[in-house]
Amino acid sequence: MKRIILTSLSLAALVVIASAAASRAEESATVSPRDLDAKINYCKTCHGTNGQGFRGAYPMPRLAGQQTEYLENQLQAFIDRRRTNPVMFNVAHVLSPAMLKGLATHFKDLNPKPLGGAPRELANAGKKIYDEGVPETNVAPCSSCHGPEAKGEGAFPRLAGQLNDYVFNKLVNWSRERGQDKSKPDTSAIMEPIAHGLTEPQIKAVAAYLGSLE
Ligand code: HEC
Ligand code: HEC
Repeated sequence: MKRIILTSLSLAALVVIASAAASRAEESATVSPRDLDAKINYCKTCHGTNGQGFRGAYPMPRLAGQQTEYLENQLQAFIDRRRTNPVMFNVAHVLSPAMLKGLATHFKDLNPKPLGGAPRELANAGKKIYDEGVPETNVAPCSSCHGPEAKGEGAFPRLAGQLNDYVFNKLVNWSRERGQDKSKPDTSAIMEPIAHGLTEPQIKAVAAYLGSLE
């Protein structure tokens, strides 16, 4: 008798736990338009009112028109600390999976003009590197992965219109910031040898070209 009561009690407890878990899962599977809007406005205080990027104490990258898969990848990389950035860790680690998706979709659909500000005289040399790579150091054409118009695809990010100073910082510091969990190799490894194969003047040139692209 005692055992039967215990069993039915624990069964009841299991049902309660299971349904609580189910409703939690439901909660996190959607996000209200109001919560999404509030979060988008928060992102834009740093990334610019149209997601075009912003120059403050340091460059905040353009998010507008960025591939959703790349955006989600990077937010997850900040959360897992595979990509180090103290500001973006704090921003990203509170975001639910549904919020990540909602944010990525919103920014992908924006299309403002590039913020600009890159030295124009370097753009031609940059275009040559972008289209042809640097054969002497085995750097493949950027266009072969990022697309002929630098719009990206899937996990390959859009680079068109990205802030030139942001691009410069990322390429120079690649191995100090990305792929920081050696037990969990990620898409940053594809780009690593390319970043290492470029000299600083070459990076400046290709960054200037990308910063002007619509
Ligand atoms: C306090 C300022 C700040 C806020 C708020 C902020 N960001 Fe950022 N974000 C940054 C900075 C700075 C970087 C550049 C990090 C680096 O240099 O690696 C960045 C980088 C990113 C990147 C990587 C972009 C790339 O091209 O690799 C993504 C994605 C991103 N932020 C998304 C968001 C989203 C979505 C929000 C809102 C939920 C947000 N950020 C809010 C400052 C901010
Ligand atoms: C073999 C494919 C490949 C080639 C070639 C390539 N890239 Fe990449 N690139 C990638 C991938 C994949 C990523 C995303 C890395 C990640 O997920 O961290 C990336 C990321 C980047 C980023 C970071 C973007 C951001 O918003 O933070 C920059 C900048 C970049 N590439 C510039 C270049 C330039 C310039 C060239 C040519 C000199 C080039 N890439 C050639 C695959 C490639």
